[in-house]
Amino acid sequence: MAPALIETPQQTSADKVAEKVFAKDKIQAAYKEAFAQDAKTTNYEGELNGVGNFAPAKYPNYLPFWDDTKYPPYEPFEAYDHGKDADASFSSLLQGAEVEDLCANIGAEVKGVQLSKLSKEGKDELALFVAQKKVVAFRDQDLADLPIQEALDFAEYFGPSHIHPASGAPKGFPKVHLVHRSAADTTAKDFFEERTNSITWHSDVTYEQQPPGTTFLYLLDGPTAGGDTAFCNQAEAYRRLSPAFQQRLHGLKAIHSGHEQAASALARGSIVRRDPVANEHPIVRTHPVTGEKALFVNPQFTRRIVGLKKEESDYLLKFLFDHIALSQDLQARVKWAPGTVIVWDNRVTAHTAILDWQDGQRRHLARLTPRAERPYETPFEEKA
Ligand SMILES: [Fe+2]
Repeated sequence: MAPALIETPQQTSADKVAEKVFAKDKIQAAYKEAFAQDAKTTNYEGELNGVGNFAPAKYPNYLPFWDDTKYPPYEPFEAYDHGKDADASFSSLLQGAEVEDLCANIGAEVKGVQLSKLSKEGKDELALFVAQKKVVAFRDQDLADLPIQEALDFAEYFGPSHIHPASGAPKGFPKVHLVHRSAADTTAKDFFEERTNSITWHSDVTYEQQPPGTTFLYLLDGPTAGGDTAFCNQAEAYRRLSPAFQQRLHGLKAIHSGHEQAASALARGSIVRRDPVANEHPIVRTHPVTGEKALFVNPQFTRRIVGLKKEESDYLLKFLFDHIALSQDLQARVKWAPGTVIVWDNRVTAHTAILDWQDGQRRHLARLTPRAERPYETPFEEKA
């Protein structure tokens, strides 16, 4: 019998792989998510009661929930950076403290200070100290043990909290952003079937018109080894560029988009609390207290340089993203320990989580995210 003129195509294994890869690539074309979590991947019973060899969550009050409350778009507000009022000798913040630099040009570790007990002067100095050091790990803190509202009240001294559009939050506290991977969760293995590394350099939620400034992340539960967070000094990244290149970047703006993050959440059946936004920000921003200039682009949210054609924009952004990612001489890798609160200035740093443990240990952190001023730039200055 002669073959039919039109054959029904059979799906080959190549088709199936192509379909799977295409679906993932479509979502992750610009937004890479190594820590995507939602209600389906959260093992509530295991977290409350323990699972296998893993103990119950140490902080069940911080387990993540995704309720479908919708929030209106953000309105502009007048931001005030308390670092402006700080005594630069840090006599209220650091008296009697043990302070050690993590690296020569970024980061410090502090012992002997209880953040939650700081006076107004101490908090002002904290804002300045973190702006100068870029990232500071405070050890032996009680923030996680306080009632959640008290932790929020502490952070809101620095600015009104950001409510994340897609992340899990403790029940009744949408202003707390949670990073959570349940005990016995093995999705890291699935992730590495598709990707060679988990590195996702970014500054938090830069798609907002007024992204965060002084930002707090504290450990609730973590693996015995691994899950560190790496930070990059974006002010030093700017200073490394030649004057001619710095000058070229001044005046350029880039579009930062939250649309891909929202699409990724919806594609896995999760929620989006606020309609996604995109905003234009200067590529070089100025810190309102220190006056330092810093690169303000990141591969997770920065999509396009305004006024350039796609190829031109891609070329220049790729250079800047590589410059940030590859310059280990302006980065620090910060280790977590029980009681650690890491504070960074989101305006002058980028960071990435590191997914390097795959033995199913729980990782659970909470972020308090005060919003700051709309990024602005000041004119290029020739070095003296
Ligand atoms: Fe982040």
